[in-house]
Amino acid sequence: MTAPVLPADSPDAIARAATILREGGLVGMPTETVYGLAADANNAAAVARLYAAKGRPRFNPLIAHVTDAEMARTLVEWPGMAAELATAFWPGPLTLVLPKLNAAPICDLANAGLDSVAIRAPGHASARALLAAFGGPLVAPSANPSGGVSPTTAQHVSEGLGDRLDLILDGGSCTVGLESTVIAILDGRATLLRPGGLERARIEAITGPLAAAGHADAPASPGMLASHYAPRAAMRLNAPSAGSGEALLGFGAIAGDLNLSASGDLAEAATRLFAALREMDALGPSCIAVAPIPDEGLGEAINDRLQRAAAPRDGS
Ligand code: TXA
Ligand code: MG
Repeated sequence: MTAPVLPADSPDAIARAATILREGGLVGMPTETVYGLAADANNAAAVARLYAAKGRPRFNPLIAHVTDAEMARTLVEWPGMAAELATAFWPGPLTLVLPKLNAAPICDLANAGLDSVAIRAPGHASARALLAAFGGPLVAPSANPSGGVSPTTAQHVSEGLGDRLDLILDGGSCTVGLESTVIAILDGRATLLRPGGLERARIEAITGPLAAAGHADAPASPGMLASHYAPRAAMRLNAPSAGSGEALLGFGAIAGDLNLSASGDLAEAATRLFAALREMDALGPSCIAVAPIPDEGLGEAINDRLQRAAAPRDGS
């Protein structure tokens, strides 16, 4: 059976979703970045169901979503740099990885037993309404089967996971379109774990230059598997034109079969990226060629997602 889809701006739908979450259910939740698959962060059975629904490896920790800094401070240590970043960018597409408090109301499975927790206050009005109605942290990975393309509409959620969750809230198309930028603040230093919907330069204006994840002395992000966001078709990047059997995803002056942004606007390209990968896949090409995207601003996160979509996949 496929989960019912209700309008996310309906107070009745929010109340019903909060009840389902309290009872250990799973809810497809709109956020401004991508749709999330929400569960009660402190209910181990619900979180186990969430990992199973996504087919997600249990070593890959989840983001705890909160209403605001006040709720965040019930979960994690809160150094001055976290306060500054939250004041500047919350609610919004920024996730902070911080040391976990012993008393944090989060089950071990939610953060994969680490001594840190990833926290984000989402900006979408319906996500905020749901968090307020629920009254505590909700874990929510992107609402797609693990390794697949992230969902930016309720229909994407329904197609990918509809038979494995209890309710989907339809809050329209995601306005940012890329997952949040993930920053770790451990040992007083800010490290970029995942480029995302908040540009590096805006963060560095507060933190100074970000350390790069993966360096020997930097924390690693367990979720940054090489192959991710993978459509059915193969992918070829930085393509000025389509080869035979290929469909071309354009940008700017390279029109292609579908253009991420005819005017070369990176924010527009980010918003459209995941839906465009699905549409290109539906054309049935053996390979999706993608025009070059400048690696500045949001282009850093767009190119990160494209490189993962193009990375060699498991034999299966
Ligand atoms: O925009 C977003 O962030 C969306 C929406 C739904 O909020 N969520 C999302 O969740 O993208 P997910 O689970 O697909 O990605 C979470 C990322 C993963 O790369 C994970 O490894 C990393 O955050 N992460 C979570 N907790 C962590 C921790 N304690 N330490 C390091 N990395 C962590
Ligand atoms: Mg994801």
